Amino acid sequence: MNIADIISHMTLEEKASLCSGADFWHTKAVERLGIEPVMVSDGPHGLRKQDDKADHLGVNESIKAVCFPAACASTASFDRDMLYKIGEAIGDSCQHEQVSVNLGPAINIKRSPLCGRNFEYLSEDPYLAGELAASLARGIQSRHVGVSVKHFLANNQEHRRMSSSSNIDDRTLREIYLPAFENVVKTARPWTVMCSYNKINGTLASENKRFLTDILRGEWGFDGYVMSDWGAVSDRVAALRAGLDLEMPSSNGTNDARIVEAVKRGELDESVLDEAVRRILTVNERYLSHAAPETPWDLDAQHEQARAFAAQSMVLLKNKHGVLPLKEGTRVAVIGRFAKKPRYQGGGSSHINAHKVTSLFDEWGGKPNVTFLDGYTLEGEGRDVALMLEAEKAAAAADVAVIMAGLPDSFESEGYDRAHIDLPKGQNELISRVAAVNPNTVVVLHNGSPVAMPWIGAVAAVLEAYLGGQAVGGAVADVLSGKVNPSGRLPETFPLRIEDTPCYLNFGGEGNSVTYTEGVFVGYRYYTKVRREVYFPFGYGLSYTHFTYDNLRCDRQKLDDTQTLTVSVDVTNAGETAGAEVVQLYVADRESSVFRPVRELKGFEKVFLAPHETKTVTFTLGKRAFAYWNTELDDWYVESGLFAVQICANANQVILEKEVEVVGTAEAPAHFDVNSVFMDIMRSPKAMKVLEPLIGDLYSTMAGGSDGSADSAISSDMLNAMLLNMPLHGLLSFGGKLTWDGLIDIVKRMNEA
Ligand code: BGC
Repeated sequence: MNIADIISHMTLEEKASLCSGADFWHTKAVERLGIEPVMVSDGPHGLRKQDDKADHLGVNESIKAVCFPAACASTASFDRDMLYKIGEAIGDSCQHEQVSVNLGPAINIKRSPLCGRNFEYLSEDPYLAGELAASLARGIQSRHVGVSVKHFLANNQEHRRMSSSSNIDDRTLREIYLPAFENVVKTARPWTVMCSYNKINGTLASENKRFLTDILRGEWGFDGYVMSDWGAVSDRVAALRAGLDLEMPSSNGTNDARIVEAVKRGELDESVLDEAVRRILTVNERYLSHAAPETPWDLDAQHEQARAFAAQSMVLLKNKHGVLPLKEGTRVAVIGRFAKKPRYQGGGSSHINAHKVTSLFDEWGGKPNVTFLDGYTLEGEGRDVALMLEAEKAAAAADVAVIMAGLPDSFESEGYDRAHIDLPKGQNELISRVAAVNPNTVVVLHNGSPVAMPWIGAVAAVLEAYLGGQAVGGAVADVLSGKVNPSGRLPETFPLRIEDTPCYLNFGGEGNSVTYTEGVFVGYRYYTKVRREVYFPFGYGLSYTHFTYDNLRCDRQKLDDTQTLTVSVDVTNAGETAGAEVVQLYVADRESSVFRPVRELKGFEKVFLAPHETKTVTFTLGKRAFAYWNTELDDWYVESGLFAVQICANANQVILEKEVEVVGTAEAPAHFDVNSVFMDIMRSPKAMKVLEPLIGDLYSTMAGGSDGSADSAISSDMLNAMLLNMPLHGLLSFGGKLTWDGLIDIVKRMNEA
């Protein structure tokens, strides 16, 4: 298909019409030119293809499909290969169902545990989110089906999501909110990107040229098309100009006509429209030329995959006295509605019509040593005295009580945010009462984002199963029984109280505006900085075995920021059970002139180890591992100095570390004037050279004749510290015979140096 040729034969009206959907899920056709429509469908945890009644809130049925673990769960796997395999499976289902683009992954940063859509998002950490989303995208696209990385950008709350402005400073955008998108765009080359509903710094994402064009295409080289979130377009002409190619679903022709008018009136260059059409047709053609509806889609086989993925994603948070895995023959009281009807996915546009759902009851219902009790209801706060008493009695008579707890659907969903992080009160009460009668109480959680655990000290074990997809029941059985050794790690911090969270004071914002005043201190970057106690830190997770680390080594002790650093560490399974460990590498800047997090995740690798097996894990760190975003340079910048490379068990716990010296090759631009202070000037050796002849005089005048020795009134250390805050014009008062003209000349020479 010669797309340029086709565009040259299209009328203005035909071109404009291609820039919005034909209906909820299809692009338009132009029959006379052989342009076929294609279908897009929601994901990102499976395929949500609607044949008949369409909607974007998960209200109407879609075809039967396999619901894989939601992103909150799959991210906890820290396993790139697993995400790739989920992608392949989703890609196959799309090919089978003739869907050209699966609308995901949704990779917005979890700024607060309250965001209603966190279950669909990956992490509070941009590196982890970017790495795993890129793997998923590669997996889907390996099947010649596109992804739509969403929601670009800064859609971190549901409250007023279609109108609120996320106000974020540049450094925070670059270090926290952009990098996951950047990673996916640069490394996985997504076919499409979906813009978000909200504004960013006052401009709607759909009209935001800075993000849709300058950064996305200009800086990162994105070559697909940008589509709107469903109904995100306001001023269609402004959006097209900003780089929004496809409006979804459609405006019943109104906006197409506005495009035509704008071109006719000379307000919109027709080449902008041509380019949008070219991008849409190019991506559609990528699919059409490889469309393979004959691709087999074995739902039962995918169900088994989903089971393995769910088990690989679970995070063991507590396991006192090794109560888990359960020993054969243990008498177990399984308590909770979720045992028979697990909560395995979240509500809204990602809602899959699961072809079958397996529960723990389906797995264990026939076992003579296991009893099942409801314990609570799923209405309101879930408290039911009769159910609670019955559960308590059964728990007291059992060896182990397993409580299947979690958030009911209404507690978290697309479309609104949570008001608190509590489980339903009835469940909290039930857990405390059961734990009081049975010390071997195990809590299994189904939730899309962190919950408070006021009973944590009383229970023996906690298994975070998140929203693990349609096969979660079998996966819970596999982990509880020890068939699978848990290896998930938390992709987010579990705070003690919502009041402890970094954006507690402004989450949701005022009116139509929310200012991200916590800056780069999101998630563990905040908790580690202020040393806030949490239930469980980012990266935390236990195993049925334990691992030891040795021999951390760096291939050099000093490097400049154009070089790479190779870091290796040996990890050993020191127990008797095979298992997987997530090796986490963080970098800590020892000293910095800007506020930086204590440490940041810069590498991770999941390794499977047989008992007593050792493997060497190797990481390569480049400039970005050490850099921060320098707003004066408008670029990444490494400030020369010492950095620690840390192998950690989680964001709070360093296991091994090594220091390296990194030299930044870019000098931060300096613009000196008479009010510049010495601590800033000292960062420029060239400028200091100009000042050198004057420093001696300055010192002795400041010291008032003191020799700076230890017994004099002012020590040289004190003098140095005071000098750091001295402005240049201080040279007139304390620096000898310098004149104003002389000072101006010095400033000039410093700026030229
Ligand atoms: C959601 C998107 C989704 C779209 C289509 C919107 O409401 O924000 O994530 O892809 O609907 O269903």
